[in-house]
Amino acid sequence: MIYKIVKYGAPVLEKISKRVTVFDAELKKLTEDMFESMYVAQGVGLAAPQIGMALHLAVIDVSVGKNPEAKIVLANPDIIYVEGEQREEEGCLSVPGFRGNVLRPRFVTVRAQDVTGKSFEMRGEGLLARAFCHETDHLNGVLFLQHLGILKRDLIKRKIRKLAKAGDW
Ligand code: NI
Repeated sequence: MIYKIVKYGAPVLEKISKRVTVFDAELKKLTEDMFESMYVAQGVGLAAPQIGMALHLAVIDVSVGKNPEAKIVLANPDIIYVEGEQREEEGCLSVPGFRGNVLRPRFVTVRAQDVTGKSFEMRGEGLLARAFCHETDHLNGVLFLQHLGILKRDLIKRKIRKLAKAGDW
């Protein structure tokens, strides 16, 4: 099933999610649906809070569906090592239409569990490193907006409030 993506302003996006404890067929189905929902929305990452579920679970595919081997499920991810810096434009499916420059590490190693509960570590560079940070942030109630300068952040928030008032958010 395709989930509707929750937008900025929904409380679930700004709270700390619960860790995944049950690795069953239901979780597998949920991750498959998250990939599908992400591809429809043309994103490279999607975290469970973005479909209204406060779970420490995210999916990433920086190939946007082109390479099946690029599909990554992160359950209970922790960032365990970072190196270097990159400053690039970043956006979020929950903040559609707005982007901003965010400083992230160039290399990121994440430790997580896969859909069966098996632990693994993975090192990412560039966009993948950025996705590890962005999605792990989501699970801790942090949006990319919090990494922007205060002027840029307030400008975006003001525009969103305006859109919400007009019923366009
Ligand atoms: Ni996001």
